[in-house]
Amino acid sequence: MGFEGIKQAGFLLMHKLARAVRFSVNPFLAEESGGFNSYSSKPAGEGLAIFFELCVSLVGRVERSTGFVINVSDIDKCVRKFAVPIFAEQIRKSFQRGEHIGLREMAELLQTAQKTLADKFGKAMLSELSLKLNPFRKLAVDCEDTKMIYFSEKFEFAATHKLWNEDFSDEHNFELFGKCANPSGHGHNYVVEVTVKMPADSEAFSIADFEKIVDEELIKFIDHKNLNADVDAFRKTNPTVENIAVFGWERISGKFGKAMLHCVTVWENDRTYCSYYG
Ligand code: NI
Repeated sequence: MGFEGIKQAGFLLMHKLARAVRFSVNPFLAEESGGFNSYSSKPAGEGLAIFFELCVSLVGRVERSTGFVINVSDIDKCVRKFAVPIFAEQIRKSFQRGEHIGLREMAELLQTAQKTLADKFGKAMLSELSLKLNPFRKLAVDCEDTKMIYFSEKFEFAATHKLWNEDFSDEHNFELFGKCANPSGHGHNYVVEVTVKMPADSEAFSIADFEKIVDEELIKFIDHKNLNADVDAFRKTNPTVENIAVFGWERISGKFGKAMLHCVTVWENDRTYCSYYG
C-alpha cells in the first residue's frame, strides 16, 4: 500500500522520508574496499568503478521519542547490507563473462532490491525505490505497482521568453509579471526531465531511440529559440514552466511505442520547476 492507500485507510499524520545511498561497484575486485565517506560513495570504489545512487522513499509515522520516521543510518545499513550486494554480484558476474547489462536487467535488479528491502524498515513502508544510473538518468519502481518500471532522463535547452497578457494594461502586466515582463525578453537555461513507464520485462525500449524522439519532437522546437516569437503554441499562451511542461507532453505523448509517457518536468532554474502528468 502506497501513500494514497495509507491516507485512505485512515492513517493520518504520515510523513514521506527519502534517503539517497551512494555506492560504487568495482566489477573486477572480488571484495569492495569499504570506505568512510558515504557522502561521496560507500563502498568507495577503487580506481575506475561504477557509481550508483539508490534513493529510498519511506512512508510512516514520526516516533515522538526520536522525531524520526526511521533513523537514516538504519536505511543506509539496510541498503548496504541487502541491496548493494544484489547489484554488485550481478554486475561482477556479467563483467567477468563479458556480458552486456541492459536496461531490462537493471530493472530486474531494482525489482529484486525492492522485494528484498520491502520488509526491512519496521513500521515505515517502502513507497518508491529509484536508482540513478548517472546524474541525469534514473530507473524507479513504485511499490504500489511493482510490475511497472519508470525511466527518466534530463535534457537541456536555452531559450528566451517574456510573460505578458495583451488583455491587461501595461501597468498591470509589469505589476503581475515583474522582471519577466521585460519587453525584449530574458533567457533561461532550462532543464526538462521526461519520465516514461513500461512493464519491467519490456524488451524493446532503447535509450537512444527515446532520446532521438525527445530531441527531434521537443528539444529542437524550443532550444535556442524565442519561445513567444518562434513557437506557435506560445504566441498567445505565456511560456511559463507550467505551460512548457504541457507543450512538452503534447509534443511527445504516445510516441514511445510500448513505453507510456508518465511525466514531463521543466526547470527554469534550480528553484522553479513544474511537473505535468497529462
Ligand atoms: Ni523567465
